[in-house]
Amino acid sequence: MGDPGRIRREFDRTPSSPLMELDDPRLSRAGVRVILKRDDLTHPLLPGNKWRKLKYNLARAAELGHETLLTFGGAYSNHVRAVASAGARFGFRTVGVIRGEEHLPLNEVLAFATGSGMRLAYLDRATYRAKDTAPVVEELRREFGRFYLLPEGGSNERAVRGCAELPGEIGVPFDVVCCPVGTGGTLAGIAAGLAEGQRALGFSVLRGGRFLADVVAGLQTAAYGEVSANWTIEYDFHAGGYARRGPELDAFADDFAHRHGMSLDRIYVAKMMWGLFTLAERGAFPRDTTVVAVVTGPMAADPPAPPRPASRP
Ligand SMILES: Cc1ncc(COP(=O)(O)O)c(C=O)c1O
Repeated sequence: MGDPGRIRREFDRTPSSPLMELDDPRLSRAGVRVILKRDDLTHPLLPGNKWRKLKYNLARAAELGHETLLTFGGAYSNHVRAVASAGARFGFRTVGVIRGEEHLPLNEVLAFATGSGMRLAYLDRATYRAKDTAPVVEELRREFGRFYLLPEGGSNERAVRGCAELPGEIGVPFDVVCCPVGTGGTLAGIAAGLAEGQRALGFSVLRGGRFLADVVAGLQTAAYGEVSANWTIEYDFHAGGYARRGPELDAFADDFAHRHGMSLDRIYVAKMMWGLFTLAERGAFPRDTTVVAVVTGPMAADPPAPPRPASRP
């Protein structure tokens, strides 16, 4: 079973992620300064926004005496991978409920998850869509017993509170924080943590992602009882939809890797960066704007090795 004290200590002693200024003539021409917040470097097994989203959830699960974490995701979910790692590290059993059918051999993400001790279950797409309803959750409880439920993408009010700590770590003056948006918790939290006069700009990685504005507002309401007016979402940089990529995104990301030596993850971070550069070059930011772009996930070519599961009673 997870130990809340140990979980808190480990989170508290982890240094905040570094800042890295981007030197790029396209930005200097536009008069925009871009600083990367390298959350990808926070923790090798729980990188990026996963660390922030799990922080208060893991402590809460342990406080409530839960032995099992159960969560949902697609077959390539970074979140499912992170929950598997967190369980192995902090002594929780983990269950990953995966959208769609089982495909063998398991892909790299799910092989990592099972290698970390996670049990996998599969829901057909119709049942998966109903995963937040009482009948589906009850059926999962019948099958797996008592568990702490982490929603898809890990986005709930505790995740929002964890992400709200990010702006406080930025030790330089800035105007805008950018992040990718998938399930909305990261943007909801970052915006909530900003000071007066600063704003947050999210980039939807989903096609048809306009519903995300309601999702982000709902998460802020769940966490704080109100919605902040300091964030917006860009919807034109999804490159075809979730996990899709077109020639423009690929060309941008290849060029970015060449110029800056960073191979951005193309499901999330590359879409945000592509959108940010495009907007800067279009003159969407006033000159002398400082933007902090959050690298919310690990570099593309650098998957961590699976940890060994913690021994269990
Ligand atoms: C690397 C990465 N960046 C960004 C996001 C999007 O964050 P959110 O789902 O909170 O909108 C995710 C998904 O959680 C992710 O895995």
